[in-house]
Parts: sequence; structure tokens; C-alpha cells
Amino acid sequence: MSICQCEGEHLQERRFAIVGHRAISNGKLNLNDLAGSGGRMDVLVRAVNSALFLSHGIREKTHITIHMMGGEGPPRRIWFDGAKVWGLHPDERAIAGQIGKIMVEPTPARGNWIEHQPGIWHSGGDLSVTLNEWEKEDVQIVKLDADGVPFSEQFNKSIDNKIGFILSDDKPFTDEENNLLEQKSKSLSLGKNWIQGHTAIGIVHHLLDTIIDQ
Ligand SMILES: C[S@@+](CC[C@H](N)C(=O)[O-])C[C@H]1O[C@@H](n2cnc3c(N)ncnc32)[C@H](O)[C@@H]1O
Repeated sequence: MSICQCEGEHLQERRFAIVGHRAISNGKLNLNDLAGSGGRMDVLVRAVNSALFLSHGIREKTHITIHMMGGEGPPRRIWFDGAKVWGLHPDERAIAGQIGKIMVEPTPARGNWIEHQPGIWHSGGDLSVTLNEWEKEDVQIVKLDADGVPFSEQFNKSIDNKIGFILSDDKPFTDEENNLLEQKSKSLSLGKNWIQGHTAIGIVHHLLDTIIDQ
């Protein structure tokens, strides 16, 4: 197996992007009702937790972008960068609280990233914008999909320096998203059973940690 390396060091960067089809993008987020009035914001919050947090610490080479496509107003994306984020705590209410603070701000234009606090940016746009950004940054894009090619088959071959995994929330991707993903990504499966997104992220981390440690 080959893993891109530079100057003898593993520089692999992992990214995750999750699409919250009903997650509200603007207004007041009720921390006591993330699943209901938040539009399954709980799913996105758990994804942030699984992507970034170790037992004691943070995964510095990991990013996650959540896509909030629901509610009123334009869709919003929030990008958490493990290398730079500061003051974020792993409990779900705290993560949701940070998201809620951003949601009362006006949504920036598509593709215009505004830093809200260290390591946390927001921007307008949807999955198509994220995929374009990742393509420009030479990210190897993977759609996580139970019906895809077994994960091990692909990653026995090669892993690029920058790998980005796309997940949906509790809903399937829309036809439009699927069409885009078909053009820009490879579908990889973690097994025949559909599992929850945050579990899928944990498994990806485990598999890549294991491959890299070998
Ligand atoms: C709760 S699942 C979504 C289920 C949804 N009903 C669907 O049909 O897409 C959330 C996300 O986790 C990822 N996922 C779940 N099970 C997976 C599997 N076995 N292999 C790869 N990815 C998986 C997919 O990206 C999926 O969109």
C-alpha cells in the first residue's frame, strides 16, 4: 500500500463533510430540541464530536464541514479545523452552543469564509460549493455509502495526502447531490448495514489510523 509522505512524515489530512438536509441555518437554535426544531442538528453535532475529538485532545489534522440546508434563509456551512480550533469542548451541548452563536450572524456569501472564532469559520453555499473547493485543493473525495466498493479495496491501493469523506444525515442524499457525487467522488462502503454518521466517522478514523500505523 502506498501512503503519500513528505520529508518522511505522514502529512495526511482528513476531512469530513456532512449534509444536514433539514438542519436550520439561521435564527435561534433551541439547545433542548436539536433533533426536532433544530432539524436533526443533533446528527451534525455528533459528527463534529466524532471527527475532531480524541479521548483527551483533538485531531489536529482533521477538518469537518457541516452543511445546514434547512429552515429559513440561505444555507450555511460551518467549518471546524482541528489544527486551529480553540475553546471547543466535546460535549454535544457545548458544540451545539457554538453553532447556535454562529446561526444568529448573517450568512456570508457562498464561498466567502468568515472566521467566527479561532478555527471555526462559516460561509454560504451547499455541497456543490464544498466539492468545488475540495477539488481545487486536490482532496481525494470519497462518498461514504453502504452500497459502495468495500473501503479496504480502495485503501489497499493508495491514500492521498488529503482525503475528504462526504456523509449525509438521517436522510439519503438528494438526486442532485448524488449526481454531483457520482462525477466527483468514489463511493466506499464500511459494510452492508447502514450505520449512523458519527459511527461511520469513527470507523474511518480507526481504519486510517490502523493503516497509517502499520
Ligand atoms: C444514517 S446514514 C444515512 C441513511 C440514509 N437513510 C441513507 O439512505 O443514506 C448517515 C451516513 O452515514 C454514512 N454511512 C452509513 N452507513 C454506512 C456504511 N455502511 N458504509 C459507508 N457509509 C455509511 C453515509 O454517508 C450515510 O449518508
